[in-house]
Amino acid sequence: MRVPGQLYLTYLLALCLGLLCMIFVAYWNATWRGGFAWDGSAKQFNWHPVLMVAGLTVLYGSAAVLYRLPLTWGGSKLPWKLLHAGLTLLSFLLAVLGLFAVFNFHNKGNTPNLYSLHSWIGISTVALFTGQWLLGLASFLLPCTPLELRRRAKPLHVWLGSAIFILGIAASISGINEKLIFSLKGLNGTAQYSALPQEAQFANMLGVLIVAFGLAVLRILSNQAWQRPEGENSEVTQVRESDTQSSRYTHTHNTKHTHCDCCLHSRCCRTEESKRARETPPPLPHTSLSAFHLHADSLGFFRFKRKTSLCLYLFHSGCVLFVEI
Ligand code: HEM
Repeated sequence: MRVPGQLYLTYLLALCLGLLCMIFVAYWNATWRGGFAWDGSAKQFNWHPVLMVAGLTVLYGSAAVLYRLPLTWGGSKLPWKLLHAGLTLLSFLLAVLGLFAVFNFHNKGNTPNLYSLHSWIGISTVALFTGQWLLGLASFLLPCTPLELRRRAKPLHVWLGSAIFILGIAASISGINEKLIFSLKGLNGTAQYSALPQEAQFANMLGVLIVAFGLAVLRILSNQAWQRPEGENSEVTQVRESDTQSSRYTHTHNTKHTHCDCCLHSRCCRTEESKRARETPPPLPHTSLSAFHLHADSLGFFRFKRKTSLCLYLFHSGCVLFVEI
């Protein structure tokens, strides 16, 4: 598949903007806000914007566009899934640390918690992110998850992923604005926000950079032509549970298909045996048979005569072997 140069350009642009966001947020707090410490003072608060922008914007955005990189398209998807999960976990941990910095600072100074619009949007974003990460883990990384659930979860995961990213950007922008309003009051010889001192210009620029980074990431995410090719090339129909006559197993794909999207094994879609096994539906036992997560060389549960066992499915020369474990 030919990869448009525009994808590389947009990706490079996003990388540069992400890096600039990090430099700007760190420089702002180090230069105008007194630097960093972890002692409950205002210097501890300064970790909040740095960690939130790093975690929920830059790292999260980078993890979201990972599968759009042509580098990740060939071979097994498993290492990239693990990297995606690892990057999002790291971004979540940074966000939790960033929240701890501000809650702890508020509590030490007897400042009320969660009163502002910024804090409402921010805490909802982190709550959604927590749910999204756990659901993603359960749906796409646990081998025992039924394929049907995996297939149904994917569009929701993609939509919620973009929604959380946008909410994170909204939280960052509102946080920057709030901080400038709180800090630049024109007291003790400092300039007012409305006078647009150097700090305000710089922090406003940080906001603009965050928005630009967001737009570049969303441009990559929304372009259908830049998706991992398997999305177009493979179609998986899961074994129907409780099919009383016979279970059907279909797995169609065209010749461009290089990798299996529906399980963790790239091998299963490549070997001649598995190809034949896919073309010939395996002769499964009749009557009270119900199976889910049935897949070539895969692990799953097999139910026969009211007994459920954990099985290893092996496809060989068009036949399916159930090895009870
Ligand atoms: C995705 C990014 C962000 C999220 C999810 C987020 C979340 C939060 C939350 C939940 C609070 C409430 C803490 C409490 O009530 O004790 C808070 C406070 C605060 N945040 Fe953020 N924040 C983010 C980014 C930023 C940024 C970039 C700034 C810029 C300086 C900022 C400035 C503030 C300020 C000034 C407060 C204290 C006042 C308040 O509670 O609204 N935040 N943030």
